Amino acid sequence: MIRIAILASGSGTNAQRLMEHFGASTKAEIALVACDQPKAGVLQRAWDHGVPCYMFGATELADGTLLRELEGAGIDLLILAGFMRLLPATLVQTWPDRILNIHPSLLPKYGGKGMYGDHVHRAVLAAGEKQSGITIHVVNERYDEGRVLFQVECPVMPGDDVEALAARIHALEHAHYPEVVEGFLNDMAVRTRE
Ligand code: GAR
Repeated sequence: MIRIAILASGSGTNAQRLMEHFGASTKAEIALVACDQPKAGVLQRAWDHGVPCYMFGATELADGTLLRELEGAGIDLLILAGFMRLLPATLVQTWPDRILNIHPSLLPKYGGKGMYGDHVHRAVLAAGEKQSGITIHVVNERYDEGRVLFQVECPVMPGDDVEALAARIHALEHAHYPEVVEGFLNDMAVRTRE
């Protein structure tokens, strides 16, 4: 069984979709939700799915405590689902090509430090974009720059506000993140056999 840890900071709707999807899987399980915000909605969602949670802060991220916790839990793959901090290089190097992220824009547009959640949608609307979308990518040491695995577009409609655009983007994320992770796991299994 491939053991997956989700890192999340917020509401956790993507984490929930992943827990639902892999709850029925025979090849992978969500073994842990790691969260850096004590009031994040993702904690209740993890509890509802019987997935253990690990709480951490900036110190545990920087000093290797989170890394040791993930290693101790035998984690094979990390999935960022609304996680807002940059991962330290040591952590990225411990799971090379084994950390995925979802971003609510068509990267490289509207990526980088400070570009997360509603900040992204606000910038897309302010720029008058006619299209937005989502990107699922491998994580490296820089914000939003790793190898792109999947992108899909959606329209920005006249009259959209942040809430309306965020809802359209969330629907795309929920439809695609589990299937893209599943495809990545299948490729991982092929590469391991080679
Ligand atoms: C999602 O839209 C995700 O793409 C975004 O945060 C939201 C989390 O929603 N991630 C980023 O902006 C990362 N830079 P959720 O907590 O309901 O899954």
